[in-house]
Amino acid sequence: MGIGYNEGNHIPWRWLPVPVPADKYPLLLEETERLLKKLEEHDLPSLIHTQDVAKVTKEFIRFLRLPRETSMPIILAALLHDIGKLRVASGILQKPHGIDAIEQILIQVHSNHGASIIQEGGLFPPEVAEMVEQHHEHYDGSGYPGQLTGSSITRGAQIIGICDVFAMLREDRVTQKARTLAEAKEYLAKNKAWFAPDIYESFLQYVAENYG
Ligand SMILES: [Fe+2]
Ligand SMILES: [Fe+2]
Repeated sequence: MGIGYNEGNHIPWRWLPVPVPADKYPLLLEETERLLKKLEEHDLPSLIHTQDVAKVTKEFIRFLRLPRETSMPIILAALLHDIGKLRVASGILQKPHGIDAIEQILIQVHSNHGASIIQEGGLFPPEVAEMVEQHHEHYDGSGYPGQLTGSSITRGAQIIGICDVFAMLREDRVTQKARTLAEAKEYLAKNKAWFAPDIYESFLQYVAENYG
């Protein structure tokens, strides 16, 4: 069973972002585009990854049949999820292997940097910064930066989180070769505990319908 509104499932209210008023979209999209241009100049692979994640998120949200007003902040957060990499040296982001413990911390802090960048602009609703901050949290508490568990991770961040992992697995990067679809599904299954059970099930259905 999926988690779409039309299927009548109960979704705890705090899990979905507060809708953004439609007249605010153009300004928010303009600001998003401005930030993404900066990301492109700083680290092109991060921009390409962002586009992959935004595409998967958009499709998955459509699959879940979330209403447009609720989808919009999630899509904005997907577009901005790695914007904090603007504050991580591109030399570290591009390092093919041999990342040490300090560099690992410098990379992981991009979740906090991302939330700060979004808050500093003062334009986005707080939920967008919250989703960006939480996109590497895991349902079982093994994620970062807050080691949050279960429903303390917002629904939007849970959605972006699984789309981020899936998109990353399917990408050719300096650090990895793209996984096949079967390998990507196997990776998700192995790490099932990272994801909310209903999101995981729905995502597998989405993958079967769209990539099968
Ligand atoms: Fe990230
Ligand atoms: Fe990402």
